[in-house]
Amino acid sequence: MLHIAVAGASGRMGGAFMEYLEGIEDVKALAVSAHSLVDEGYAQLETALKGDGLDVVVDFSSPGATLELAMWAAENAKPMVVGTTGFTVEQLDKLADTLHPVAALLSPNMSTMMNLAWRMMSNAAKVLPHDTIDIEIIEKHHRDKRNAPSSTALKMAQIVAEKRGWSLADSLRRNSRWGLLGERSQKEIAISSVRGGTLNSEHTIIFAGSGESLEVTHRSQTLEPFSKGALRASRWIVKQPSGVYDLLDMLGLPEVLF
Ligand SMILES: NC(=O)c1ccc[n+]([C@@H]2O[C@H](COP(=O)([O-])OP(=O)(O)OC[C@H]3O[C@@H](n4cnc5c(N)ncnc54)[C@H](OP(=O)(O)O)[C@@H]3O)[C@@H](O)[C@H]2O)c1
Repeated sequence: MLHIAVAGASGRMGGAFMEYLEGIEDVKALAVSAHSLVDEGYAQLETALKGDGLDVVVDFSSPGATLELAMWAAENAKPMVVGTTGFTVEQLDKLADTLHPVAALLSPNMSTMMNLAWRMMSNAAKVLPHDTIDIEIIEKHHRDKRNAPSSTALKMAQIVAEKRGWSLADSLRRNSRWGLLGERSQKEIAISSVRGGTLNSEHTIIFAGSGESLEVTHRSQTLEPFSKGALRASRWIVKQPSGVYDLLDMLGLPEVLF
C-alpha cells in the first residue's frame, strides 16, 4: 500500500487527484489542508505519521504553502512531489535547496505528453537555424488561473533559450504585441497568454521560417493526465536516492530524439 498525503486537496487539481486515487487499489490518500497548515495541516500530517504511515507528500497548492510543506518534508525525511506552479526564481531555488536532503520531484506539468513535447521542441530549437526561425509561444487557460504566463509556457521558453544559447531574461517578450513596434528582433521568444471561461489548458510553440512553419501543440481536455503523472511520480520518487528530480528524469527521455 502506498500512503499519499495530498496538499491542496480542496482545489481543482488536488480534488481531481484525490478522486483519481479513489479508484486505485494499492493507494491510500489523505487530504492535507495546505491553506491552514498551522491550524490543521501539520496535525493531519503528524496523525498520518503515527497511524498507517506516510510514504510521500504530493502538493498542488500555492507557492507559499509549498515552501512550508517542503520544510516539513525535509525535517521528517519524506519524499515530495510538487505540482504547484507560479514560483519566483528565488522561491524555486529555495524549494530545491530545502528539498535536496530528501527525494523530490518538481514538475510544472505532470503530463507525459507535455514532457515529450518539451523534448520535441528542444530538439527543433537546436536543429532549426537560429538566425532565421522565429519562436512564439501561445498558452490558453480557464479564467480562474492566477499566474500568467503559465509555468509550462515559461519552461518551454527556458528550454528553447538554452538550446539557442540565449539568455532567457534578455530574449523573453512578456506581452502580446501592440502598436507600432517595428521589425521583430531576432533573439526573441514571445509568450502570449489567453484567459477565459472554462478553456482547457493548451500550449503551442511556433517555429516560423520563411515560407514554412512548424507548430507543436499540447491540449489537455481533463485533469486525468496530470493525476496519472502525479501518481506515477509518487511511485517513482519513493524509490529514488535523495535529490531533486523532474518528470523528464523519471521518463528517461533522451536529450536528443532525432
Ligand atoms: N504540475 C501540473 O501538472 C499541474 C496541473 C494542474 C495544476 N497545477 C498547479 O497546481 C496548483 C493548484 O491548482 P488548482 O487549479 O487546483 O488551484 P485552486 O483550485 O486554486 O486550488 C488550490 C488549493 O491550494 C490550497 N490553497 C489555496 N490558496 C492557498 C494559500 N494561499 N495558501 C495555501 N494553500 C492554498 C487550497 O487547498 P486546501 O484548502 O485543501 O489547502 C486550494 O483549494 C497551481 O499552482 C496550478 O498551476 C499543476
